[in-house]
Amino acid sequence: MADFYRGRRLRSSAAMRALVSENRVTAQDLIMPYFIVDTEDSTFRKEIPSMPGQFQLSLDEFEKQLAEAVAAGLRSIILFGIPKCKDATGSEGYAEDGIVQRAVRLAKARHPELVVITDVCLCEYTDHGHCGILQKKDDDVTVANDATLELLQRVAISHAKAGADIVAPSDMMDGRIQALREALDEEGFVNLPIMSYAVKYASAFYGPFRDAAESTPQSGDRKSYQMDPANSREALREATADVLEETDFLMVKPAGAYLDIIRMLRDGFDLPLAAYQVSGEYSMIMAAAQNDWIDLDAVAMESLLAIKRAGADLIITYFAEDFIKRGLVK
Ligand code: PBG
Repeated sequence: MADFYRGRRLRSSAAMRALVSENRVTAQDLIMPYFIVDTEDSTFRKEIPSMPGQFQLSLDEFEKQLAEAVAAGLRSIILFGIPKCKDATGSEGYAEDGIVQRAVRLAKARHPELVVITDVCLCEYTDHGHCGILQKKDDDVTVANDATLELLQRVAISHAKAGADIVAPSDMMDGRIQALREALDEEGFVNLPIMSYAVKYASAFYGPFRDAAESTPQSGDRKSYQMDPANSREALREATADVLEETDFLMVKPAGAYLDIIRMLRDGFDLPLAAYQVSGEYSMIMAAAQNDWIDLDAVAMESLLAIKRAGADLIITYFAEDFIKRGLVK
């Protein structure tokens, strides 16, 4: 009799491996981000140089691309807007006819069953590129927390009125979940869920997104409001605060370099947990694949599986549409 463990028994065939597989990535777990541009040119469709395969889209192009994706099985999306003009308070971010608001109306009109999530933030709409409004104190310029909350409430309400199914604040101001919940309830949206970007790090992995959304801060960085990559216990405090303020989902962002944080939140909280596989994660895989250094499908799938294994229920990923269209996830 063998006196060692024969792990290979359960790896002997594809069917056997499938039988004992502990995690899988399915179409219903994936959320696809889209970048919609406010432009007169209805044929506008521009590939984002640092994100091969991802595009800035006019409303019409978005409509076409979305129809194909939904037909293939895509079930949820998250929308980012690129406005015509930016100002100090990001007013296009809460305009009734803003680009995201129009995109939400369009998506819901065409696909009522699609889950449409909106990113609630100001950085794409402010001329300075910060996630809130700026305040000058002596020689220092900071992002004003409490004054920003009021604007974020306006953004969320405008998204809710347009028909968003979930609002996802990504600004990292303190107290934003409470502020949004109060405003939504007051406006009658008591059943509209909030997906908090609860644990969002000040990450260099967002670089390509800032090209895509044209939201690079004109000066300084986001370290006074996004989290320090060195910290993990702080993630518990952020998540706890958002749970007490009544968020409906938690999110960790980025995903791949923060699998320990995903696991920590999975073990510590019972809310649905999302992870955002951000632009830089996508771009690194794409760049290596384009050089034939790695196998795109295998590495991308492995990266998604790792995020599931760490404990995420949902993944926001730029691979969602392509993987669903090509039947790599079902
Ligand atoms: C807006 C926002 C950002 C991302 C999602 N929402 C950028 C940032 O905080 O700089 C990044 C997403 C990505 O990199 O794919 N605040």
